[in-house]
Amino acid sequence: DMGGHDTYMHKEISEQADAVDRVLRGRIDDRFSTVHLGGLNLDAREARGVRRIKILGCGTSYHAGQIGAQLIEELARIPADAEPASEFRYRNPVVDPDTLYVAVSQSGETYDVLAAVQELKRKGARVLGVVNVVGSAIAREADGGTYVHAGPEVCVVSTKCFTNTVVAFALLALHLGRIRDLSVADGKRIIDGLRRLPAQITEILENEDEIKKLAAEYADAKSMMFIGRVRGYPVAREASLKLKEVSYIHAEAYPASELKHGPLALIEPAMPTVAIVPDDDLLEKNRAAMEEIKARSGRILAVAHQVQEKADHTIVVPKNENELDPILMGIPLQLFAYHTALAMGRDIDKPRNLAKSVTVE
Ligand code: F6R
Repeated sequence: DMGGHDTYMHKEISEQADAVDRVLRGRIDDRFSTVHLGGLNLDAREARGVRRIKILGCGTSYHAGQIGAQLIEELARIPADAEPASEFRYRNPVVDPDTLYVAVSQSGETYDVLAAVQELKRKGARVLGVVNVVGSAIAREADGGTYVHAGPEVCVVSTKCFTNTVVAFALLALHLGRIRDLSVADGKRIIDGLRRLPAQITEILENEDEIKKLAAEYADAKSMMFIGRVRGYPVAREASLKLKEVSYIHAEAYPASELKHGPLALIEPAMPTVAIVPDDDLLEKNRAAMEEIKARSGRILAVAHQVQEKADHTIVVPKNENELDPILMGIPLQLFAYHTALAMGRDIDKPRNLAKSVTVE
């Protein structure tokens, strides 16, 4: 049942305020400015002993894991990074007993992720799952973890589950942070930010008509560049994946700082750039990157917290705490990909060559 929407993708994009509300519900502990995650199976002493966190996933879940790794480093100050599960599996990784492994998956059935979990467990590592589908193979195989509570996702292309997975990582990062060195004041600041998310998501989605017009404006592009720095970079990668999956327009994502090391050669009017420009300590650096693109006659669509003069168009999104900004900045670009694909007559819920869960190697 699409509940009045023409596609599941549109329905699922529209459900995100409720979905985020669900992942937060019942978990916030205001007394200690932390969160409770019932199924982690990791007591405080064990959590304090974690020296590194390695996050494994594929596709959109891998991108959510990249933001998750940044959140964990920022809030818990534990070195963390994300890697595609398939790459990890095939490089004979060093499995370290002080590293906590986290497997991320919407379906909980992605073969490369499941196989990585099984290999890690065989070697005695501790593996948590950040999974949407309750009782799925990865959820069962992991030592513990947290459900993402996005609800059923039918469209092959993941949208609401991406957002909820990142929020689930924010909760995990806050929990680990408050067991370690994150202050009560910072814990409270993040909790207040998390509570603002559903209303801010609704605010972003109310801009759909404007985003639809912008999608028409850029629909002639043969190829698009997505750029961001640090917090904005995984957002750029995910937005680039979304656009190529549903519209089949070629897109690629680069850290803004890498442009001058090669990809600037591609910039011309037929190759527009989408720039993720949060109002944080990298704002000036992002403005400089936009200037470099303008100097080569590139068109720019910015996603930012205030109108960007260097850009041709700006989608303005509400500001949250710096750490939580990536959760919101990708949402308008889901709609951008959707409307681009719709105008091109694409099979939005079932893009060619793709399957909802990849249970083969
Ligand atoms: C992108 C997409 C895929 C999946 C990937 C992992 O929109 O849907 O990239 O994210 O196949 O799937 P899960 O999360 O089920 O492990």
